[in-house]
Amino acid sequence: MAIDPPARATCEGAGSPSWTRRDGALWCDEVDVAGLAARFGTPLYVYSAAALRQRIAAVRAAFGDDAHLCYAVKANSNLSLLRLVHEAGCGFDLVSGGELERLVAAGLPTDGAVFAGVAKQEWEIDAAVAKDILFFNVESPHELPSLSAAGRRAGRPVRVALRLNPDVDAGTHAYISTGKQHNKFGVAIGRAGEVVSAIAADPWLELVGYHVHLGSQLHQVRPYAEALQRVCDFVDGDPARARGVRYYDLGGGFGIGYGKGPELDVAAVAAALLPTLRSRGWTPVVEPGRFLIGDAGILVTAVLGEKSQGAAEFLLVDAAMNDLMRPALYQAEHPIVPVAPVPADRSTHAVDVVGPVCETGDFLARGRALPRCRPGDLLAVLAVGAYGASMASNYNTRRRAAEVLVDGAAVRLVRRRETFAGMFADELAGESAPDTGDAGGREPGTGER
Ligand SMILES: Cc1ncc(COP(=O)(O)O)c(C=O)c1O
Repeated sequence: MAIDPPARATCEGAGSPSWTRRDGALWCDEVDVAGLAARFGTPLYVYSAAALRQRIAAVRAAFGDDAHLCYAVKANSNLSLLRLVHEAGCGFDLVSGGELERLVAAGLPTDGAVFAGVAKQEWEIDAAVAKDILFFNVESPHELPSLSAAGRRAGRPVRVALRLNPDVDAGTHAYISTGKQHNKFGVAIGRAGEVVSAIAADPWLELVGYHVHLGSQLHQVRPYAEALQRVCDFVDGDPARARGVRYYDLGGGFGIGYGKGPELDVAAVAAALLPTLRSRGWTPVVEPGRFLIGDAGILVTAVLGEKSQGAAEFLLVDAAMNDLMRPALYQAEHPIVPVAPVPADRSTHAVDVVGPVCETGDFLARGRALPRCRPGDLLAVLAVGAYGASMASNYNTRRRAAEVLVDGAAVRLVRRRETFAGMFADELAGESAPDTGDAGGREPGTGER
């Protein structure tokens, strides 16, 4: 005897309980996803506030109340999401002056922000000093004169943490590994002693900590533990290296499942590191992006048609690589699920899910088993909250997608679909403007100079 499926179930492939099936239809918390697509159009990013808060709470529980949680703004820099993570108790991990501008635009405090970035420009340093951020993560000695000069102008020493490159294999995709010797990030431990001495000798700089970030999408505790061990060995090499140090910023990189397995055991990472950090009096700083927002977002796309070519079968959809770069850039595989209930008699077949962009690399999935679709059917690409919208572009003169935030039963449009007029405005203004000699390096804004 057939058993009726439950009226409410977790959505297959989703990494957060916020995505459910009710009588087969996809819901985000208390809101049905098809209704959102009808109201706001497609492609459409949908975020769950509950899913984001739940992950922040998990990281807080793992690392404790005294840890400093810094949301990695690059993962998803939507202003409304930044406000939400601030309300949930996070500071921010910045990698550009533009991200600092976002905090200012969102009306958020900047004193809990840390600023990494492998090639910081002077205007960015000036802006962050003016905003008195918590500390800079120094990635190379060439930053020191600019940081020192900014401190002198401000009349107070600039707090810096030294980003060490511990040469640890994070066991992740080559494009998102950052802690190996051949990666451009941080200062090699062999040269770090000189940099610590240079900081100590400068009255306008104050060494407050050490930083590592090994890469993204990590699933093991080992790299985090190994990196801390190498930093401790370095610090123990000379008492001067520990002077004034009160933070250990272990970076982000906490991996998620993408429908294939569990996320990183963050509590296990914390358990491995906290005893050492406590014994040295170092406050943990963590900078997760993907782990917090990745599973909180989906991309809803509408089917345009099907096409067969030789042995290949293509499902043509209205979202493309400009909306979601990750499959093309990192060979990332995101779960894709139908939004509406699938009739029991629909057959399943393997398709390449491709968008309208004129690139062979424009695909959302390859050889993916999906129920046969008809034009107008909706699909949801899961786990796209991180490095989805924030990496989107206008390539092929496509408007960036709208974004909505669901909070329980409440829905808020947090980014309207881009308009063509908005997209062309700077070009049209450029045509009529006199040559101002704007070299692009000097950015008016927070750091006006
Ligand atoms: C310095 C730094 N911190 C944190 C992150 C966030 O990484 P993830 O989103 O994997 O947690 C990144 C990502 O590249 C980074 O470069």
